[in-house]
Amino acid sequence: MGRLEGYRTVVTGAGAGIGKAIVERYLAEGARVVGVARKDTQLQELKAMGALPLKGDVTTYETAEQAVAAAVDAWGGLDTYVANAGLWDFYKRVERQSPEELEKAFQEIFGVNLLGTLYGARAALSALRDSKGSVIATGSNACFLAGGGGALYTSSKFALRGLVMQLAKEFAPHVRVNGVAPGATDTGISGPAALGQDTRDMNADKDRMATMEEYMMLGRVSQPEDHASLYVLLASREESSYVTGAMFKSDGGLTISV
Ligand SMILES: NC(=O)c1ccc[n+]([C@@H]2O[C@H](COP(=O)([O-])OP(=O)(O)OC[C@H]3O[C@@H](n4cnc5c(N)ncnc54)[C@H](O)[C@@H]3O)[C@@H](O)[C@H]2O)c1
Repeated sequence: MGRLEGYRTVVTGAGAGIGKAIVERYLAEGARVVGVARKDTQLQELKAMGALPLKGDVTTYETAEQAVAAAVDAWGGLDTYVANAGLWDFYKRVERQSPEELEKAFQEIFGVNLLGTLYGARAALSALRDSKGSVIATGSNACFLAGGGGALYTSSKFALRGLVMQLAKEFAPHVRVNGVAPGATDTGISGPAALGQDTRDMNADKDRMATMEEYMMLGRVSQPEDHASLYVLLASREESSYVTGAMFKSDGGLTISV
């Protein structure tokens, strides 16, 4: 018997990286998953894995509504909404962005990392109240310290941590809201089109990955699967029944020392 047997879930950013690892693990634990992704190839893969694929852009409320409706229509409710889709900024310094780029990149990064989570939580609230379910957001080491990205990424993830705490307060007592904060992870995360980073993949830069490894107390950059157990724990009513408003670090010790 899986740890999430019968759980009805939504995972955004499900087509690659950490989101795909969450989907695989949730399915293995007996959950049913609506996987939100943007690319057709990713949607086909999600279907082949046994998830219910949904094409969407998390910066629109419509996508959040459709994802919740897909779970409710297919399985009669929703137990867990995982807001995981994210954009990075490749450490882009403020002074190297024109004011116009700053504005557009702000909208893209905050649109995905923060507003996407807020939309998901808002759209899922009623169904989660019915099931006494939970929201899980993907944070970052950048929720806690400077230097995990540039100003836009770092401020978006600090804001996300505040959002998790505030929503936990507002949605209590029936809906728990938590986050997982991964450290450097071997994925092809990209950045905003406004900075020409939408076709970049972080892990394509092997030198960057080698540098990241040097900061990891545990001696390696993580794989997406390293974080998946925490998403199971936080989804499970039995295993984390008294946890809300928490942002669980899964960062190999990255944020415990300067
Ligand atoms: N990779 C790391 O080192 C790292 C470290 C800390 C936190 N994170 C966080 O992990 C989460 C997942 O990132 P990842 O590293 O697995 O990268 P990834 O690029 O593999 O996954 C992110 C997914 O989000 C999707 N996405 C982006 N914008 C979207 C939009 N507007 N609508 C719908 N989907 C959209 C992408 O298509 C992609 O599939 C992000 O929130 C990221 O900030 C990653």
